[in-house]
Amino acid sequence: MSHKIQTLSGYFHEYQKSVLEPEAFWSRIAESFHWRKKWTKTLEWDFEGPNVKWFVNGKLNLTENIFERHLYTKGETPAIIWEPNNPDEPNRTLTYSELYRLTNQFCNALKAQGIGKGDRVIIYMPMVPEAAIAMLACARVGAIHSVVFAGFSASSLADRINDCQAKMVLTSDGNFRGQKQIEVKAVVDEALTKCTSVQKVIVLQRTHQPVNMVTNRDLWWHNAIDGQPYEFEAEEMDAEDMLFILYTSGSTGKPKGVVHTTGGYMVYSYYSFLNVFQYSQGDIYWCTADVGWITGHSYIVYGPLLAGATTLMFEGVPTHPHPGRFWEIVDKYKVNQFYTAPTAIRALQAYGLEPVEPYSLSSLKVIGSVGEPINEEAWHWYHDHIGKGNCPLVDTWWQTETGGIMISALAGITPNKPAHASLPLPGVQPVIVDAEGNELTGNNVEGNLCIKFPWPSMLRTTYGDHEKCKNVYFSTYKGMYFTGDGAKRDHDGYLRILGRVDDVINVSGHRMGTAEVENAINEHPKVVESAVVGFPHEVKGQGIYAFVICDMTGRTEESLKEEIKETVRKIIGPIAKPDIVQIVPGLPKTRSGKIMRRILRKVASKDLSNLGDTSTLLNPEVVDDIIKGAGL
Ligand code: WT7
Repeated sequence: MSHKIQTLSGYFHEYQKSVLEPEAFWSRIAESFHWRKKWTKTLEWDFEGPNVKWFVNGKLNLTENIFERHLYTKGETPAIIWEPNNPDEPNRTLTYSELYRLTNQFCNALKAQGIGKGDRVIIYMPMVPEAAIAMLACARVGAIHSVVFAGFSASSLADRINDCQAKMVLTSDGNFRGQKQIEVKAVVDEALTKCTSVQKVIVLQRTHQPVNMVTNRDLWWHNAIDGQPYEFEAEEMDAEDMLFILYTSGSTGKPKGVVHTTGGYMVYSYYSFLNVFQYSQGDIYWCTADVGWITGHSYIVYGPLLAGATTLMFEGVPTHPHPGRFWEIVDKYKVNQFYTAPTAIRALQAYGLEPVEPYSLSSLKVIGSVGEPINEEAWHWYHDHIGKGNCPLVDTWWQTETGGIMISALAGITPNKPAHASLPLPGVQPVIVDAEGNELTGNNVEGNLCIKFPWPSMLRTTYGDHEKCKNVYFSTYKGMYFTGDGAKRDHDGYLRILGRVDDVINVSGHRMGTAEVENAINEHPKVVESAVVGFPHEVKGQGIYAFVICDMTGRTEESLKEEIKETVRKIIGPIAKPDIVQIVPGLPKTRSGKIMRRILRKVASKDLSNLGDTSTLLNPEVVDDIIKGAGL
C-alpha cells in the first residue's frame, strides 16, 4: 500500500510535503479512493467563520470505498470478527461480501421505513455487528447517524434525539455487559416520552428479555429486514455532506453535536489507521472501545474497513468472566494490533500478573493507548507485560472534534518515549501558545495546544449552532483551532499532552463537563448550589468530586450523598456519577460571585500547598470549613 510510511526519514519527508503543499499531499491520498465525480478544488478554508471544505464538489459514497472497492480482492476476507460478552456463546465472522450483503439489506429496510438522504438516525445499541451494519447502512442511504453510548440515561438520550430531531432510533431489547443485563429498550421508551420527532424504532433481539413494543412505531430488526434484497445502489453524496453527528461534553452545560462530513473523514480515518498501526493485509486488529465514542467510529468501523482490514469487535468488559479476558481474546484470534485506554490498563494492572501469565500474547506486533494521558507506570506495565518489551506502544492523542489521531508515534517507526504522544501525523500542524496566543517556537516550551491549519477530518460545525462551534474552538486564539488541552514540547521536540485546561474532566477516558454534572446535581430538590471538579484517581485517571450546599432537613448526610449520586446517574448515566460528594456550608467565591475552582481542585486532590491568597474571597471563612469537612 503506497500510503504507508515505512521509515523515520520517510515520515519526515511526508511531513515536510504535507506542510509545504497540503493540497497536493491530500489530493494524492484522496485519489486512491473511488469518487463518482472528482473534486474541483482540494481545500477552501478560513478559521474565522469557521468555514472548512475539503474536496469541494467531489461526489462519492463512503461505503463504496469499503465494499465495491474491496470486493473483488477481499470478498472472502473477514471484515468483522465478533466476540460476545459470554465466551460460551458462539462468535461470528463476517467477510467483506457478507457485510456488504447485510448492509445492503438493512439499507432497504431503512428505506422501507421512510429513511432517506439527510435524515438523522440515532443508534443506541450494544457492541454487536449490527451496530456497525447500522452505521454503514445510514452512510450508504445518505442518512446521518448519531450513535449514543448505550450507557447514557433516558434523559441524555432524549436531549440528543431532540437536538438533532432524529426520525428513527435503532436499538436492542437489552444489552449484555459483564454479569449485567441492561434494559435498553425501556430506556428508549422513557426517552421517547419527551421526543416528538421519532417516527420509527427498530429493535434488535439480543437478550430476548420481554419488552414493550409500541404499535405503529416499533418493529423488530428481523422483521424489518425480512424479504429485503441484498442489493442496494448507494446514494451519491457530496464530499461535504454530513456523515455523522457525535455528541460530546464541553465546558458549557449541554453536550455539543460534533459534525463530521463524508470526504475528508473518509480520507483521514483511513490514512491515520494505516500509518499509526502499520496495518498489513492479513493482520487481525482489535480496538476495545465502544462504537458510542469517536474511537469506535474511526478505529473500529470506518478506518479499518476503508483499509480492507479485519477488525475485531468485543461486546463485553475487560474483567468478565475473569480479569484475563482481554488476553484470552488476543491469543484466541492471534490479534496483531491491540488498542485500548489507560484506564483499562490500570484496572487490569491492579490484578497483578497472574491473569496475564496463562497467555502467550506472541501475536501482538503493536499496542496502542487512547483517551487520556497514560502515566509512566501504566505505560511500562503495558509495554513490558503485554507488549513483552518488543511491541511499539503508540500513545495516540486526538479528540471527538479531530475525527482521527493527530499526534502519535507511527508504530515501529517513531522511537517510543513513555507518556509522550510524540509527533504530529503528516498534515497536522500543532502549535503551543501562551495565554496571549503567541506561538511558542523551539523546544522546551509549555502552553496551550492549538492546530493552525485544517486537516481533512476536522469538525465542520456543531449541529444546529455554528456560533457555538466558533466560540468554543475558534475564538480563544485568533486564526487557530483550540484543543482545550495543555501540552509541552520537550528538549527532543516530542509532544507531551498535559491534560485539559478547561472545565472538562476526563473520567476513564470519557469526557465530562463539570457544568453538566452540576446541572444534574442541582436537579435534586434539597440542593442549593454545587461545584464539581476533577481529582487524581488511581484507575479512572480523574474522579468526580462534588462540593454541594444542601438543605439538610429530614435527611442524614449519608442518605443525601447517596441521593445526589443517584440523581446524577439517573440524569446523565453511570459514567457521570460523582465518586465523592462533600456537603459544605458555602462555596468559595470571588467578589464578582464566581466560584474559585482552583481552591476546590486543591482540596479535592488533598494538596493544600499553594492554596494561594484567599483573603480576596467574598467568604474566606468557608475555605477552612471545606478543608475540615474533607478530613484534611
Ligand atoms: C480528550 C478528548 C480521542 C478519542 C478518545 C477521547 C484527552 C485523548 C489522549 C492521549 C492525553 C488524551 C485529551 C482530549 N486525550 N487522547 N493520548 N494523551 N490525553 O475523545 O472524548 O473527545 O476526549 O481526551 O484531553 O482533549 P474525547
